[in-house]
Amino acid sequence: MPVIAVVNRKGGSGKSTFAAHVASWCAHQGLAVMLGDIDRQQSSRGWLRRRDASLPAIAPWVIDQKNVLRVPTGITHVVLDTPGGLHGFELSRIVMFADAIVMPVCPSVFDRESAAACLAELHTLPRVAKGQCKVAAVGMRVDNRTSGADTLRAWAKEANVEMIGVLRETQNYVRCLERGLTLFDVPKDKATIDLGQWESILQWLQPVMNPAPAPEVKREPILPVRKPSVLGARPLHETHRNSVLTESRSTILGGKPLNEAGRLAVVGGTQR
Ligand SMILES: Nc1ncnc2c1ncn2[C@@H]1O[C@H](COP(=O)(O)OP(=O)(O)OP(=O)(O)O)[C@@H](O)[C@H]1O
Ligand SMILES: [Mg+2]
Repeated sequence: MPVIAVVNRKGGSGKSTFAAHVASWCAHQGLAVMLGDIDRQQSSRGWLRRRDASLPAIAPWVIDQKNVLRVPTGITHVVLDTPGGLHGFELSRIVMFADAIVMPVCPSVFDRESAAACLAELHTLPRVAKGQCKVAAVGMRVDNRTSGADTLRAWAKEANVEMIGVLRETQNYVRCLERGLTLFDVPKDKATIDLGQWESILQWLQPVMNPAPAPEVKREPILPVRKPSVLGARPLHETHRNSVLTESRSTILGGKPLNEAGRLAVVGGTQR
């Protein structure tokens, strides 16, 4: 089950805004997505409550008394919003099961320094070091009239992290979130510039959310290859191979069913 976590120690860097948008994008792709909010502020959960039921559905998080995050039945994709100040054990628990971590970073020097420290910690974690959990940064709240985007790109190079996009500072985000919406929920012509800025980000997320099917296993034909005697008929070994492929695709693209991957025992006592 693909899991994307939105992480940055720095408060107010745009984590909840970004997480809500990724979840909404998944919902528009027809994916059964959950937006898990492990921040005590519950910004994402509050946003979900404001979201109109007629919009593509995003499931809220479910947490039990043991602080275990449960993935509701039928969910195949998870987006996690996390609190500021996440580090140490709490951070490593998120990395344990995330397939990708996206870090929204604002351009100020304080934001860049804080994000660099968080990245340095992430790079020490085995799943990140081995590439099992991908990490990328996104420029957030960048004023187009400044050199903020260039500054952030230079910072990303130094911090050894891929910069997958830069989102501008605009009230469009603020207005949407107030109404339980994201930019993906409004008519495209109302957010052309901003949706354009999301393209490179979504391109990066696409293979994480829809992992490629496992490579086809080459099998020797069971029967000798013969020309079909009847027009349109296929040799047996070809039919066999196709059925194997279909089977493996449906397993991978559909994500694991809940009973296999439904319990993410990673959340608990996320302290500031
Ligand atoms: N691109 C943007 N343009 C303008 N405002 C933005 C943008 N992105 C986020 N904001 C605003 O910035 C503020 C902080 O964003 P958000 O709550 O998403 O950050 P956060 O990292 O989740 O904060 P916290 O660490 O407190 O959870 C919010 O008021 C949000 O509406
Ligand atoms: Mg938040």
